Amino acid sequence: MDFNNKVVLLTGASSGIGYELAVRLSLFSNIKLVLAARRIDILNELAAQICRPGIEVLPVKCDVSQREDISSAVKRVIDTFGRIDAAILNSGTSYRMSHQESSFLKTEEIMKVNTISYLYFFDELIPLMKKNGGLIAGVTSLAGTRGFPYSGVYSASKAASSRILESYRGELKKFNIRVINIKPGFVRTPMTDKNKFYMPMLMEPARATDIILKGLKKEKRIIQFPWPVAILAKLVKLIPNPIFDYFAARVK
Ligand SMILES: NC(=O)c1ccc[n+]([C@@H]2O[C@H](COP(=O)([O-])OP(=O)(O)OC[C@H]3O[C@@H](n4cnc5c(N)ncnc54)[C@H](OP(=O)(O)O)[C@@H]3O)[C@@H](O)[C@H]2O)c1
Repeated sequence: MDFNNKVVLLTGASSGIGYELAVRLSLFSNIKLVLAARRIDILNELAAQICRPGIEVLPVKCDVSQREDISSAVKRVIDTFGRIDAAILNSGTSYRMSHQESSFLKTEEIMKVNTISYLYFFDELIPLMKKNGGLIAGVTSLAGTRGFPYSGVYSASKAASSRILESYRGELKKFNIRVINIKPGFVRTPMTDKNKFYMPMLMEPARATDIILKGLKKEKRIIQFPWPVAILAKLVKLIPNPIFDYFAARVK
């Protein structure tokens, strides 16, 4: 999609990949950019920083785990701009935790933010986009490939959101609603800053954003990077279960 003159809703714009995407999207001409997340103070500061003549930026406080927040955020965008041409669902959360540490609250939060929110958004966006088409991109992860130790819930949430995107892509084609899955490897953000383990080919957010925007422009079905890690993820998927389990049992 060419983002010039478009109304674009971006979630998770207050940090990491979303923050960088917001800065880059603001460079398109005549874009109407909606920045959504819970930390409205950061969104307001970001909006003030990127706003310039010819573009409009609307910061919206929205907890994507809450259906009402998503409904009212979408309503606000429609009241302000009259339509939504593209939605980039980037909000996400992760906790590295073992089966013993897995609290119900954290599990519920991960599943709601990373997966259920997609269903809420689709419910709001499909009726709006059915007439003129549109683009919906979800940021999932290469971590959805298998059940990696200590990331079971995160892996599951990303695998589930990937499947939702895949099935809706087929269903929504007839309405010219294009559905894209963005699957990053490791990117240096506050989410990964807390990781103590080795992260292969850790990428800077600026580079990740370059790849994402290039893929979105071409409307690639799946935007996965870095490519060696994407290939590795495919190979890991093919590893027979006994071998996968052997290595998984040795992860600390
Ligand atoms: N970094 C990586 O290596 C990596 C790899 C693969 C996939 N990803 C995915 O990429 C996306 C962006 O991650 P990131 O690395 O940029 O992480 P990040 O810096 O921690 O940013 C996460 C963003 O999600 C928002 N968010 C979290 N919970 C939310 C909620 N309940 N409602 C609304 N927004 C919420 C946060 O905003 P507020 O706290 O202000 O609400 C923040 O803007 C996520 O979906 C993540 O799973 C990241």
